Amino acid sequence: MDQIIIEGGVPLHGDLVISGSKNAVLPLIIAGLLSDRKLTLRGTPRLADTQTLADMLYTLGAEVEEFGRGPGEGLSVTAADLSSTRAPYALVSKMRASFWVIGPLLARAHEAQVSLPGGCAIGTRPVDLYLKGLAAMGADIKVEGGYVNATAKGGLRGARIELPFVSVGVTHVLMMAATLAKGQTIITNAASEPEVVDVGRCLQAMGARIDGLGTRVVTITGRDRLDGADYTVSRDRIEAGAYALAVAATGGDATLTGIDENVLGALVPAMRLAGVDFCTEGNANEPVLRVIGPRGRPHATCVTTEPYPGFATDLQAPFMGLMCCADGVSRVRETIFENRFMHVQELTRLGANISLLGDTALITGVPELLGAPVMATDLRASVTLVIAGLMARGTTRISRVYHLARGYERLEEKLSACGARIWREAS
Ligand code: EPZ
Repeated sequence: MDQIIIEGGVPLHGDLVISGSKNAVLPLIIAGLLSDRKLTLRGTPRLADTQTLADMLYTLGAEVEEFGRGPGEGLSVTAADLSSTRAPYALVSKMRASFWVIGPLLARAHEAQVSLPGGCAIGTRPVDLYLKGLAAMGADIKVEGGYVNATAKGGLRGARIELPFVSVGVTHVLMMAATLAKGQTIITNAASEPEVVDVGRCLQAMGARIDGLGTRVVTITGRDRLDGADYTVSRDRIEAGAYALAVAATGGDATLTGIDENVLGALVPAMRLAGVDFCTEGNANEPVLRVIGPRGRPHATCVTTEPYPGFATDLQAPFMGLMCCADGVSRVRETIFENRFMHVQELTRLGANISLLGDTALITGVPELLGAPVMATDLRASVTLVIAGLMARGTTRISRVYHLARGYERLEEKLSACGARIWREAS
């Protein structure tokens, strides 16, 4: 298994080109199941998760093909015929988002047998809201032998669905399913995350009728069929946020190409409070955000995770990385997932002073971190350890870095180009 080695203490300078969004491309690939025509997705990142999903689509009788290299690269999804409606445990347990095939399968084939995803490192993550939403659209749902067996004889029908709290995945699935349902579906308390907007826009390009994208009420009027489309995926705001934090944490000055400050939501104001400066450069086609690290230690800053445009839970761990060396005590509260603090013990190994009380972490900033061997526990925890390693004096060795390949394309290459001393070694 590979390890990532970092010799810390080098401020990042240069340009980081942000890749296509992982959390948009996964549901976009799944959206390809809704049509018998080809869906072309451009600007897609090459990640372990997209490959895992391609394997899943293959078992359903669809094809996912990568094409090109460089800016024009992407992948196409062709689901001319669905030869199976069964999503097996072996694949769903590898990546939870593959559970989302349940929406398109039910909408197009009127049946689905999808494994329950099983355990997760960041929380219990039940699927009750998916099942309630699909049942409201007329699906008959039984959970048996670890599988959700769902049928919708005669097809799904539109419904009014009020979500008790915001869920990104439930919004994706119900929106996708509703595009082929009979009549109108209104989802209230829908997620407004940029990834949901991306999926909605792609569905519109496929001929779906959707209103209210980016708001809390999304209305979908079903159609008999959807067409193919050629769609460019948005850049990854979570990757961009992690790199912005890495630049700030090393006291660097670097640009993020392809990302607009607005999609970072509450991260930018929080980082400004911490003493980080931002300048918008570039143009509307290719926005560029310059990140200028604080002079000296960052100021202690408190954040609470919330649905978009609030502070993203996927940036909670990386933000804590920055706060490890802040001047003062910061408080980070996690309200989306109940167990998303696995990085805390590993940060402590680098010398961080963090105490946990329920959903809140109190971080007493220390003047510096010291390199040590650490272990990655999940995707966002992994990048946090990279940020901490870049800040730390001495050498940090991160093991279990296979998590990183799930969400960060060419991470070592991108950071090395900005001066970081980071490389991968087989152990
Ligand atoms: C998406 O997960 C993302 N995953 C997550 O990114 C992200 O952290 C999360 O949204 C929140 O922004 C992808 O896009 C592939 P939710 P999702 O449903 O959709 C509870 C990463 O690191 N809930 O919005 O699964 C759930 O347990 C990841 O890239 C129910 O209770 O998250 C959580 O507490 C990890 N019942 C809350 O809702 C349900 O039926 C919000 O989660 C569904 C969800």
